[in-house]
Amino acid sequence: MIKIIHLTVNGAPAEVAVDERESLTDMLRQRLGLTSVKKGCEAGECGACTVLLDGKAVNSCLYLAVWADGHSVITVEGIREKNGLLHPVQQAFVDEAAIQCGFCTPGLVLTGVELVNSGRRYTREELREKISGHLCRCTGYENILNALEKVVGVKPAGEENRT
Ligand code: FES
Ligand code: FES
Repeated sequence: MIKIIHLTVNGAPAEVAVDERESLTDMLRQRLGLTSVKKGCEAGECGACTVLLDGKAVNSCLYLAVWADGHSVITVEGIREKNGLLHPVQQAFVDEAAIQCGFCTPGLVLTGVELVNSGRRYTREELREKISGHLCRCTGYENILNALEKVVGVKPAGEENRT
């Protein structure tokens, strides 16, 4: 059954007709063309489909589109700075060579944005735990952790943050 939902997507109001059984991933990709949202396992295990829902990182493959009615969704298409520059998390991924095929990158970046928005800083061990829901098949996690540490890492005693 088709239902009309109203939500905010990347800061703009949207009215979308969705099948009641449709995942948020499919709605964002197929109905709104937001293909940064990746389809990996579609079982909640790889994090490739991560979006920010009311500011919280969620696996959109496990979330029905109809549940997003009245909520706010952010994808990587919506995180650029107002001046057009990359978001600091995206820039850190570039600077630290934390990307190879890029399939996992949008989800990891959005988890990074959630951490930035939390306003606190994290130890490397905490960051490791925070990205534990994301599967990267190629990069290895050290560069990804380096990137996240650059923007939300704990300042080592006696040192300035690298950002
Ligand atoms: Fe959603 Fe893997 S595609 S967690
Ligand atoms: Fe290829 Fe992570 S860069 S899956």
